[in-house]
Amino acid sequence: MNHVNLSTLISEAQIQKRVQELGEQIKERFSGKEDIVAVGVLKGSIMFYADLLRAIDMDIQCEFYGCSSYGNSTKSSGEVKLTLDLANSVKDKHVLLIEDIVDSGLTMNYLKTVIGARNPATITTASLLLKPDSLKEECEVDFVGFEIGDDFVVGYGLDFQGYYRNLPYVATVNMN
Ligand code: IMP
Ligand code: MG
Repeated sequence: MNHVNLSTLISEAQIQKRVQELGEQIKERFSGKEDIVAVGVLKGSIMFYADLLRAIDMDIQCEFYGCSSYGNSTKSSGEVKLTLDLANSVKDKHVLLIEDIVDSGLTMNYLKTVIGARNPATITTASLLLKPDSLKEECEVDFVGFEIGDDFVVGYGLDFQGYYRNLPYVATVNMN
C-alpha cells in the first residue's frame, strides 16, 4: 500500500458525540412510524451505519446497497457503479439512507432516484460528512454530521486506495 501523511480533522470523541446527537434527532423524525429500514451504502458508510443505528433507539431493519464512484482515484468519476443490490424490498417502508460523504452530490442523488424507484413510503437521508464547496448539483441531505472543506479525507469508513477505513477518526490526506 502507498503510505500517506494524515492529519486528524475530526477526532473519535467528536464523531461519537455527534453520532449520538444525530441518533436522537433521527428517532424524533421517525417517531410514530413503523417499518423503518436503514439502507447503508457500502463500503464507506459501515462505521457510521453501525454507530448511528446503535444510537437510534427504535425497531429498525437493516439493508445494504453497494455502489462505487471513485475507483482508485481521489476525484469523482461522475459514474456510479452498482456493486450490490438490496436483498429485500423497501416498498412502503420508511427508508433511512446512510452515506459516508456527499462530495459532488452525484452519488446521493443517484441513490435517491434508484431507491425512490422501489416505491418506499419515504426516504430520509443521513451523511456523516458533507463538502458544500464540492457540490456539482443541488443535493438535499436531511441529517449531516459535519460540513468539511474540499480536502480528500479518510478514516471511519472512508478509504484511500482501499485502506484507512478502519481508523476511528477522520483525517485529511497530504498527498506529497
Ligand atoms: P460524490 O458522488 O462525488 O458525492 O461522491 C460520493 C462518494 O465518493 C462517497 O460515497 C465516497 O465513497 C467517495 N468520496 C467522496 N469524497 C471522498 C473523500 O474525501 N474521501 C474518501 N472518499 C470520498
Ligand atoms: Mg460512498
